[in-house]
Amino acid sequence: MANDGNYIVYHGLLCPKETHSFESFKYAEEIKVEDEDIFTVTYPKSGTTWMQEIIPLVLNGGDLTPVQTIPNWDRVPWLEETRAALVLDRLPSPRAMVSHMPYRLMPRSFFPSKAKVIYVTRNPKDVMVSSFHFHKMASFLDDPGTFDEFLNKFLSGQVLFGKWTDHVKSWRNSDLGDRILYITYEEMVKDLRGVLERLSRFLGRDLSEETLDHVANHCCFSNMKSNAMSNYSLVPQEIMDSSKSPFLRKGVAGDWKNHFSPEQDFKFTAALKEEMNGTNIKFPWDEE
Ligand code: A3P
Repeated sequence: MANDGNYIVYHGLLCPKETHSFESFKYAEEIKVEDEDIFTVTYPKSGTTWMQEIIPLVLNGGDLTPVQTIPNWDRVPWLEETRAALVLDRLPSPRAMVSHMPYRLMPRSFFPSKAKVIYVTRNPKDVMVSSFHFHKMASFLDDPGTFDEFLNKFLSGQVLFGKWTDHVKSWRNSDLGDRILYITYEEMVKDLRGVLERLSRFLGRDLSEETLDHVANHCCFSNMKSNAMSNYSLVPQEIMDSSKSPFLRKGVAGDWKNHFSPEQDFKFTAALKEEMNGTNIKFPWDEE
């Protein structure tokens, strides 16, 4: 591990010092994973905060108390962040956590456990756009530079948690069988109700039609944007400045079309195609 300005480098991955430390990674490596634990794993900007809202509601039969009273980072904490050591032991069972870890860097005790994983993937072009705006509002991250410069960094993996393609390949090739559920951000945008049904079945929760409607309604973009426990308004402006770009920014699929030039689109698509070549991993946005 090494220090690099705003970041520490963990197994070659850039992570913000504001929220991560060498100790926090060691803690994550060594935690005792319980069979009941539920991990939502994402590459950054793929819908992590959304899942921190959804999972407690699915687990608690739609009870809004946790999402209205506990900030998202304590409600469903990040496995690898410094807060984990303070809050993980106090979580009710089943414990719900989020993580940006690639598969091979999950805690040692995760592999032989029965803990479940929900892996959320998002169109990498929209991930990059969301990340670009996030870098502008978060003072603990390096300035992204121009959009073109940031695109080059994204493609070479000089961004938080490394290359998108490496992350996705690591989780799509996991040998977790029915312990893992794959969903996409785009499916959530299009049919949140349908995703909630799949999620509740996966988590062994039999939610009524009425509860599914209630959860879907609560988790829509506008409701989350006005929930102080989820919209990062509790973070001081010097750290996250929502006047530059709100954390819950647009919440749509396809915003990349407003940002990419035809040349950038061509370059990005070709680079990803090359990286994904031979994997037989296909996504709906590959056809766009
Ligand atoms: P945009 O910047 O494109 O708006 P993460 O939580 O992994 O950092 O991802 C953040 C992205 O998820 C942001 O994307 C944010 O707006 C989006 N998001 C969060 N909650 C959402 C919701 N309820 N509906 C749609 N998008 C949501």
